[in-house]
Amino acid sequence: RVKQGFITFDHVSFIYPGTTKSVLSNVRFSVNPGERLAVIGSTGSGKTSLFQLIPRLYDATEGEIRIDHRPTTDYTLDNLRRSIGYVPQSPLLFTGTVAENIAWGKEHASTKEIIHAAKDAQIHDAIMELDNQYQTKVGQKGVNLSGGQKQRISIARALIRNPKILMLDDSTSALDLTTESKLLHAMESYECTTLLITQKISTAMRADRILLIDEGKVLAIGTHEELLHSSSLYQRIVTS
Ligand code: CTP
Ligand code: MG
Repeated sequence: RVKQGFITFDHVSFIYPGTTKSVLSNVRFSVNPGERLAVIGSTGSGKTSLFQLIPRLYDATEGEIRIDHRPTTDYTLDNLRRSIGYVPQSPLLFTGTVAENIAWGKEHASTKEIIHAAKDAQIHDAIMELDNQYQTKVGQKGVNLSGGQKQRISIARALIRNPKILMLDDSTSALDLTTESKLLHAMESYECTTLLITQKISTAMRADRILLIDEGKVLAIGTHEELLHSSSLYQRIVTS
């Protein structure tokens, strides 16, 4: 199959509706099909905002975002979002079983598929320790899961749909290094373009390229070595 998931930001600027502050300014970069891009930048630099524009949770104020050379505004919202697995920074589980939460958004998911996604998301073992395992009720009236467990259920929910584009917003922040490493390794078997926001340079270094944003602007994009040479801010982040 032809690799899909080519993403282009073409001079994108963004101001949240009802505000005046420019959150993203003239952002331009491309991500190749199947590439893994880490997005780093200090808190408030616009990383989550940049992510939210891709599935059109918000629309760019200026410029255009294209997926596989078509503007995202040309897709139906349903088709656009079906091709994207988006794990938000603070994922929400709905009231229902663990299995239902993982299968959400994919019709006719089999038990086998649910377990497979959970294993890849490194949450299977924790689920097996719950009283009713995959049938355990979570959400408002269910058992309380840790932030990291919710993140991994949300990752399983994204993986089970085998998306063209996978987006993780700081989704591995709560994981220990070994679990994170296993997760990143498991994700390699999915042929999707991956964007991952991370605070950790060690995680960013595992990506093909790194996008550094600061105050809504792209400061640099390239490999770890390239950024070390080209960006003084990157040097400072690495040595801090
Ligand atoms: N912002 C806003 N309205 C929102 C969300 C964010 O005005 N509904 C502003 C924030 O105040 C911030 C800027 O947009 O100045 C960028 O926010 P965000 O994209 O959330 O920044 P991140 O880089 O994701 O920050 P963090 O690392 O803390 O998640
Ligand atoms: Mg954020």
